[in-house]
Amino acid sequence: ATISVMDQETVLPPHVLIFPLPLQGPVNSTIKLAELLCLSGLHITLLLTHHIHTRLLKYSNIQSRFSSYPGFHLETIPDGLPEDHPRSIDRFIEVLESLKTKSSILFKDLLTSGKLSSDSRRPVTCIIADGTMGYTCDVANEIGIPIMYIRTISVCCLWVFFCLPSLIQSRELPFSGDDLDTPIKNIPGMEEFLRRRDLPMFCRFNLSDPNVQTYLSEGTENPRAHGLILNTFDDLEGPIVSQIRTFCPNLYTIGPLHAHLKLNLESFSSSPPSSNSLWKEDMSCIPWLDSQPPKSVLYVSFGSLAVMTKEQYMELWYGLVNSGSRFLWVIRRHSVLSDVTEIPPELSKGTEERGCIIEWAPQEKVLAHGGVGGFLTHSGWNATLESVVEGVPMICWPYFLDQQVNSRFVGEVWKLGLDMKDTCDRVIVEKMVRELMEERKDEFRKSAEEMAKLAKQCFMEGGSSYCNLERLINDIKAM
Ligand code: UDX
Repeated sequence: ATISVMDQETVLPPHVLIFPLPLQGPVNSTIKLAELLCLSGLHITLLLTHHIHTRLLKYSNIQSRFSSYPGFHLETIPDGLPEDHPRSIDRFIEVLESLKTKSSILFKDLLTSGKLSSDSRRPVTCIIADGTMGYTCDVANEIGIPIMYIRTISVCCLWVFFCLPSLIQSRELPFSGDDLDTPIKNIPGMEEFLRRRDLPMFCRFNLSDPNVQTYLSEGTENPRAHGLILNTFDDLEGPIVSQIRTFCPNLYTIGPLHAHLKLNLESFSSSPPSSNSLWKEDMSCIPWLDSQPPKSVLYVSFGSLAVMTKEQYMELWYGLVNSGSRFLWVIRRHSVLSDVTEIPPELSKGTEERGCIIEWAPQEKVLAHGGVGGFLTHSGWNATLESVVEGVPMICWPYFLDQQVNSRFVGEVWKLGLDMKDTCDRVIVEKMVRELMEERKDEFRKSAEEMAKLAKQCFMEGGSSYCNLERLINDIKAM
């Protein structure tokens, strides 16, 4: 038995179990990491909850995509909720809580059952789990397997989460009243520009909210892991990455993951990466974009979780039509909180002439399309990185989580667009669209193209993300 274990260790590569947070954004970037590690020859087990697995099988080509990697294995785990449980965001905490209670036992059983190893696959030598699932660290430490966390939100927001306890100590939180322009003074590196309105939305409500409690423990959870894998790059968030390093010295900034993977696949002359979509992508928008003048279309999409009221929906629609711009608008199913029956004639005419509305887009292809000249986004981190890589200026209308912080950085720090933040009325929407797509388009496109160039350099050979990925792979092999 000893000899066979020694043989295994000399012959078979390390075996990494990767466990994403079961939401579209985190799943998307974590599967890109899984494929980057497959490309480097590591054996990977991707652990998905049943709900995510079912939808990926239905709407993405994950099976065929990963079948070319000999050491790849897909494993599923229940998330402890009935299949028809709505995974909408206000049930997000319920999903997390049930994952913690039900899945932590199953997670430990899976790791100790021997089910994941065979004579062609070593037992798991390293775990990479989403840093919001702190229980994975408890299990990993209990059974003695090294664990690293991946965080799929922005580093700037992660740093805000780490600093929340000190905002409470300095009495900057909780705050009452509506003066949201009051500056926040106790987040190192953000003193010059962060205001109350740029904090995560839940900071405006009572801090005993379970959401807040989850994030208040952030700073304590992460240092217990062997390392922190971050979907960002040093030219974008370097100053804030240095702040995080005071909490977690072992960081790997290897993003933008979607573009990093795409370049690696091209160098292997392999097919482009799969979309890891949980909904069916409507490809009819591509020929529609082909028929539009270059950079004339504003792409409008608010990710997989944001919802809006009927009033917001109508204000947005009037603003888009009145701006005179062409627009490709993703209205995800059930993302408007009440059905809109009657459509005002002035909207249907303008939409007919200049708009295209679909339920789910091939977003990376859309942002890379020459017809797109701007992106009205909710500032989800994947969307932000995808827009940065393609050099597309943004108008940010954040909804919750890290989006408020992200939109402040886009507008105030990186100067890649406009931060619409808390308002959504037709006059402001129209004004911002005209500003981004006409009046200030040269200014924003110039800064967006400069940042896109820096993004590309970081995952080219010798770049910061390239080198950090090499270091991550070597550290995994050394475990
Ligand atoms: C969630 C949180 O809301 C976000 O704040 C956090 O940064 C990541 O987790 P989500 O809201 O879904 O993410 O937004 P985002 O991070 O942009 O991820 C959405 C993904 O879906 C993107 O990769 C985007 O390319 C893709 N997408 C979105 C599509 O493929 N088609 C669409 O029509 C819309």
